[in-house]
Amino acid sequence: MTEQQAQFKAMTEGTAGDWQIIAGHMRPFMNALPGRIIEHLKLLDGDYGGYPVDRLQHCLQTATRAHRDGRDEEYVVCALLHDIGDTLGPSNHADVAATLLEPYVSEENHWIVKHHGIFQGYYFFHYVGLDQHGRDAFVDHPHYQACIDFCHLYDQNSFDVDYESEPLEFFVPMVERLMSTPKKSLYQKALVDSDAA
Ligand SMILES: [Fe+2]
Ligand SMILES: [Fe+2]
Repeated sequence: MTEQQAQFKAMTEGTAGDWQIIAGHMRPFMNALPGRIIEHLKLLDGDYGGYPVDRLQHCLQTATRAHRDGRDEEYVVCALLHDIGDTLGPSNHADVAATLLEPYVSEENHWIVKHHGIFQGYYFFHYVGLDQHGRDAFVDHPHYQACIDFCHLYDQNSFDVDYESEPLEFFVPMVERLMSTPKKSLYQKALVDSDAA
């Protein structure tokens, strides 16, 4: 049996029936997001970029440290995904992760992920010709200290080859719980309506 598909060639020709078909795909597509995220995270496996541990191990170590320090699930998932943008966004990797996480997390956790790049620079920017104190521009921001804490407690120290991190499988259920339904989205009402249909 072939899958039912909308019939328009341009959206100007779209009908209620077409959009009913498309809306019916929303929930399964949303439900599959955690799987796509995990698959993308695996692209960091074996990618060292000169660092002592590869990018996937760095993410696992960051998330494991946050988890063992008693951080909640949302925070741990942010820690796990904070460098997922390294592959597609090497010039703005923090923005990529922040954008992926934004519909699912608090404003504070989103801010931490979005700004962790410049805050992490405190530990090395002066070695590569950049301003180590770039984070100072945010000193009056309410989440300034939270971002310092993330980088200091979990991120800058997660290059330890001897640290025993939890495996990726340990975090998969957390990603599934957090990222199967957005808290805020342009398409939120359409998703709720398609669930109810
Ligand atoms: Fe980063
Ligand atoms: Fe990192």
